[in-house]
Amino acid sequence: MRVVLGVSGGIAAYKACSVLRLLTEAGHEVIVVPTAAALRFVGAPTWEALSGRPVSSEVWDDVPLVPHVRLGQEADLVLVAPATADLLARAAHGLADDLLTSTLLTARCPVVLAPAMHTEMWTHPATGANVALLRERGVHVVEPASGRLTGADTGPGRLPDPEEIVAAALAAVTPAATGDDAGRSAADDLAGRHVVVTAGGTREPLDPVRYLGNRSSGKQGYAVAAEAARRGARVSLVGANVSLETPAGCDLVPVQTALELQRAVDRLVDGGGVDAVVMAAAVADFRPAHYAESKIKKTHGEGDDSAPTIELVRNPDILAGLVERRAGAASPFLVGFAAETGDGTGDVLALARAKLERKGCDLLVANEVGDGRTFGQDTTTAHLLRPGTEEVRTVGPGDKALVAAAIWDHAAPLLR
Ligand code: C5P
Repeated sequence: MRVVLGVSGGIAAYKACSVLRLLTEAGHEVIVVPTAAALRFVGAPTWEALSGRPVSSEVWDDVPLVPHVRLGQEADLVLVAPATADLLARAAHGLADDLLTSTLLTARCPVVLAPAMHTEMWTHPATGANVALLRERGVHVVEPASGRLTGADTGPGRLPDPEEIVAAALAAVTPAATGDDAGRSAADDLAGRHVVVTAGGTREPLDPVRYLGNRSSGKQGYAVAAEAARRGARVSLVGANVSLETPAGCDLVPVQTALELQRAVDRLVDGGGVDAVVMAAAVADFRPAHYAESKIKKTHGEGDDSAPTIELVRNPDILAGLVERRAGAASPFLVGFAAETGDGTGDVLALARAKLERKGCDLLVANEVGDGRTFGQDTTTAHLLRPGTEEVRTVGPGDKALVAAAIWDHAAPLLR
């Protein structure tokens, strides 16, 4: 296999020498494309000696051979290790100001990026948005490891071990990465998993023609389901009143009310073997206490203009029920959603933090709603909150598919 090994300018560039060795020893032809900054950490003679080929950073060398186009076109795999924050930003935005970024634009094979940087740079929303954008396009971005960084500091941002990087890179090259999928990674980190995703909004009937409902379109839940299927999971999609096309590879279980949704989820979970439940549906907290078998009339009689009172009863909290029924190691990973408008008692994040603690789920995805935000829209801004840490991952503003990818990026390695 012909591999382009990109190296960008971080101290972890020295570890790319081991990545190169592992690839050449496995019989692959490796062309190293360092950035100019990478050459300040590890010089061209090292790369040339280890790869047995000349090395260049610039599009101005060997111009008649058109290397800025040819390298990408002819590669079976492009792997960048380490990928700095700057390289991620340039790749995300399609810049082509050196040989490596030009190669990334012309490559139609799987592209794998292994980021390495200081924790502050990795957790900065700008880097998060760039990573999300790259992943949305099918680029495989390896999660950095946590541990000792260049200085005395520790945290996420460390380049994973060379063996791990090579394994992730080779896994991205599968026969599936052809045809329509060319240029997309074959991420299958949910292969063999069964996940349940709820989507849409429940409707609680008042009479044969009326119901109490909400504005949820189901777009976010459907994006979560589609992403899980794309990553190889078996997906049971419990859709409450959604008028979208069922994503490829998902088994739709249509429901209308909160009680029907509860029955559907419980049946799936009780069947065993469910690895994750993502409760993206907007479930009504209350339902009418009484259902009128015939349509409620505008007037009860001649001259009677009084209005009826709707009495409500509480619906079960389905997510809380799943948390309560946790059965140790066999329990599915539980993801809750929070749609918050803020109400003067705290901002959206504070309300979401309180909800995470109250609900006891493994991940809470908080969206800001109201003023036409989120509901029914294709784009959103979401905050991912985890128990036991104040750290928040903010995704967007961007397509709901970005939030879906971020959820599975987080959850996939944690499934029991
Ligand atoms: O408390 P709140 O309704 O804001 O919580 C939202 C989360 O809880 C969502 O994940 C939603 O699917 C879930 N939920 C539930 N059962 C309810 C209400 C909400 O599972 N009755």
